[in-house]
Amino acid sequence: MADNQSSDMEVEGYENAILPSSSGSKLPRLRVLSLFDGIGTGYYSLLQLGFDVEVIYASEIDKDALMLTKYHFSGNIKQLGSVTEITTEMLDKIAPINLLFGGSPCADLSGVNYRKKGLFNPDGSGILFFDFYRVWNYLSVKAARENTPFYWLFENVASMEIKNRDTISKFFEYQPIIFDSLHFSPQRRRRYFWSNFPGIKQLAYSREMDDYEMIDSKLEDYLEKNLDRQANVVKIGTITSKRSCLQDSRSRNPVCQDGQCTGLFITEIEAIFGLPPHFTDIGDLSISSRQKLLGRAWSVQVIKELLSLLSSEFAKK
Ligand SMILES: C[S@@+](CC[C@H](N)C(=O)[O-])C[C@H]1O[C@@H](n2cnc3c(N)ncnc32)[C@H](O)[C@@H]1O
Repeated sequence: MADNQSSDMEVEGYENAILPSSSGSKLPRLRVLSLFDGIGTGYYSLLQLGFDVEVIYASEIDKDALMLTKYHFSGNIKQLGSVTEITTEMLDKIAPINLLFGGSPCADLSGVNYRKKGLFNPDGSGILFFDFYRVWNYLSVKAARENTPFYWLFENVASMEIKNRDTISKFFEYQPIIFDSLHFSPQRRRRYFWSNFPGIKQLAYSREMDDYEMIDSKLEDYLEKNLDRQANVVKIGTITSKRSCLQDSRSRNPVCQDGQCTGLFITEIEAIFGLPPHFTDIGDLSISSRQKLLGRAWSVQVIKELLSLLSSEFAKK
């Protein structure tokens, strides 16, 4: 960990107690650890839902993502550096943590990557799951021993091989549920979530029962109105880190403007992810850098739906 980051951890003397909410609520305030934090969609969702976050720590190494979260959250997020460098001493120092979440890099697990390295290859990124597991294991045992609440959520792509899904489930001793952002937005984005949030199984089940086409969220609702852009399709596939990801096999773009087929503006993609326009427009980030950050991100609509399951467990402002 860099020196300037370690100082973050020394700023406060963390009492091993969960303080009552400033709003007077008897419920505990959230003490969060966000691994693989990316552009901070987890924290953004918590704030949108009105949770009273006492403190949030994060692990992230991408400098564009770090710049973006620093900009938006005015340095509220205390960065711990690489997840591989998080030690039990660091965890003892930041404890108690009552919410741990993260989605490790999926490139080496995703079914669409024919050269994926899988879960165990030390040269790949799939193996970072075990760092989440290491932190999860330490914090969950500690919380059980100290009788403090501990909620957690681990996310990854639903296109991973079944053997990898089953290995992850074995480690957590939990089965995942699948959520697709298609339920809340025009984008298909199927993801596994392993979690102990109360009511998560029922929520997933009720969502599966929905008819996609019944949900009032069509691509055309997300297009720039002033430019008279029209949607060629009602729903789109998964948005990835590549600008070309939404061209279909016939190289047809999802939007028409002035008689030409074209791709989505980056601000339209931000809206599809549930983010405000220009959320990723920080410093001099290029369009392709912004697409890279968004292509790896959580869909805010989905994460909000999941985090709202904690509404009766933790204080709100
Ligand atoms: C699938 S993305 C998660 C994105 C995040 N959920 C969001 O909504 O933006 C995985 C993230 O893990 C980060 N990452 C990769 N290696 C890491 C490491 N050693 N420690 C911490 N984060 C890492 C990547 O930079 C990337 O932002």
